[in-house]
Amino acid sequence: MRTIDDLDVSGKRVFVRSDLNVPLDGDRITDDGRIRAALPVIEKLRARGARVIVAAHLGRPKGAPDPVFSLRPVAARLGELLGTDVAFAADTAGESAHATAAALTDGQVALLENVRFEPGETSKDDAERGELADRFAQLADLYVGDAFGAVHRRHASVYDLPGRLPRAVGGLVLTEVEVLERLTSEPQRPYAVALGGSKVSDKLGVIDNLLGTADRLLIGGGMVFTFLKAQGFEVGASLLEADQLDTVRGYLDRAEREGVEIVLPVDVVAAEKFAADAPHAAVDVDAIPADRMGLDIGPKSQELFASKIADTRTVFWNGPMGVFEMEPYAGGTRALAEALIGSGAFTVVGGGDSAAAVRALGFDEAAFGHISTGGGASLEYLEGKDLPGIDVLR
Ligand code: 3PG
Repeated sequence: MRTIDDLDVSGKRVFVRSDLNVPLDGDRITDDGRIRAALPVIEKLRARGARVIVAAHLGRPKGAPDPVFSLRPVAARLGELLGTDVAFAADTAGESAHATAAALTDGQVALLENVRFEPGETSKDDAERGELADRFAQLADLYVGDAFGAVHRRHASVYDLPGRLPRAVGGLVLTEVEVLERLTSEPQRPYAVALGGSKVSDKLGVIDNLLGTADRLLIGGGMVFTFLKAQGFEVGASLLEADQLDTVRGYLDRAEREGVEIVLPVDVVAAEKFAADAPHAAVDVDAIPADRMGLDIGPKSQELFASKIADTRTVFWNGPMGVFEMEPYAGGTRALAEALIGSGAFTVVGGGDSAAAVRALGFDEAAFGHISTGGGASLEYLEGKDLPGIDVLR
């Protein structure tokens, strides 16, 4: 793959696809990790005299402008972090985008409005995506693909546009790929994977693949209740994907046959309702009250999980162990993060939520081997799937 060092960018308009999909509370950015991860390539291009046009998505708008998903607050934060004004185009590939791109001088940066305000961005129809990609191509001379979190998407700005301009891969994508490669090709063992998050159905492919590569699979988060139910426990009012029970039973059988240890919690924090101030208590998994929902792994499980991480040499972690945004249910995620830091293993935190959890709980990012910006993208990489946004840069 060509890198930006192979491109002559001075005085050129460079379209940089970044992943700036950050969590927002109103127009307040609650975790700017992805914006900070996007800085190096932008800074490098500026320093070399490029006119940088950054494009990104935010959330999942329905192919039309929607103020809730505007990138305007992101432009302001990007400007603060870069220490320079970032011009903001009020549309994605229309008049404002053209005027903004045309007004850039060497070393200046602009951000386009959310690419998903255009129906062509996410369209399944090649021609519709192509039409948008053609309009994007008119804005710039060169393309840099640096949106690691979106490389699994066959979208116009990720997949179709790079074929229309001289292109290069950004440093963030290169780093992410290098790290994930270490996990897929001969990881140092024992290799443990901790999976959390709410849904098993989002993680099927990766679990399937990990049963062939990891030594241990630690399961927490909302998805654990489908595993516990599959083992015959009653899970009360906890999240349950009943339609995945057979699949999960299949995984448990396969893990046993292939000698992969599946570690499930032995206790959970069960609450009366999904609220920080709800009455709650730690209960063993064979005693979850019918009217309570599990919102975190319990203290005994924290110890168990930590003991299963302590002797590892490689750990990949995707998905919080509980509802870490509410303090009473943050203990499991905090304990797991501490176990990773204390292990001395090569640790990779993947996924928007787990990365945000690490920062929200006040951990030093440098204490981990790598914090990925990609949620779905890193999982699909580990699944061994082709990633369109990387393939097209090759
Ligand atoms: C992410 O948040 O994982 C990426 O930004 C991709 O977002 P998407 O799942 O909405 O495509």
